[in-house]
Amino acid sequence: MLTMKVLGLFGSPRRGGNTDLLLEEMLRGAQSQEAEIEKIFLSDWDISGCRECRRCEIDGNCVIQDQMQKLYPKLLQTDYIILASPIFFYGVTAQAKRMIDRCQALWARKYILKKTSVQEESARRKGWFISVAGSRGEKVFQGAILTVRYFFDALNVEYAGELTFGRIDSKGAIKKHPSGLKEAFEAGQRLVTS
Ligand SMILES: Cc1cc2nc3c(=O)[nH]c(=O)nc-3n(C[C@H](O)[C@H](O)[C@H](O)COP(=O)(O)O)c2cc1C
Repeated sequence: MLTMKVLGLFGSPRRGGNTDLLLEEMLRGAQSQEAEIEKIFLSDWDISGCRECRRCEIDGNCVIQDQMQKLYPKLLQTDYIILASPIFFYGVTAQAKRMIDRCQALWARKYILKKTSVQEESARRKGWFISVAGSRGEKVFQGAILTVRYFFDALNVEYAGELTFGRIDSKGAIKKHPSGLKEAFEAGQRLVTS
């Protein structure tokens, strides 16, 4: 049997915080189904913002030589991507957004250069979004969900769904939620078996 790869992108600067706990559970759920998991703590990675030089429109590659260059192949070669980011000012964190903006190079490959990599063509890849917010405003996740949808689209990853929890603010508050961590574990199991 082919081992499925799951890449967990952790976008909060708060290690051991709410999205961290949810991502861990979701990855554990995926691992329980024999998937191979890898977690990346984006805060630790040296990834700068897009310079908008537009060089990627020529060959699909980003000119900035930082750790994003190590992340591109991981993004392209995994079967599943889980992005976990809390809501910061109605969007994803800066750490997550910097990485997303650098995927403009992959957007250019797909939509300007009409190129897809072998890995992208060979599999139906899926992505999932995990988020929490301190408030429970009706629209609090909307902006971030749109961002993540189009991030996945640039990678040729199907947006398979999200797990979002409002009114989760202090570090570890998600542990007191009646079903949050269980839902994450089950979502991880489902994602890799669907
Ligand atoms: C810089 C910053 C901006 C935030 N912006 C929002 C916001 O716009 N709406 C909201 O409901 N919560 C907001 N929060 C609260 C976080 O989403 C909340 O504390 C969350 O539980 C943090 O998740 P974490 O433990 O995974 O880091 C913000 C927190 C910080 C530090």
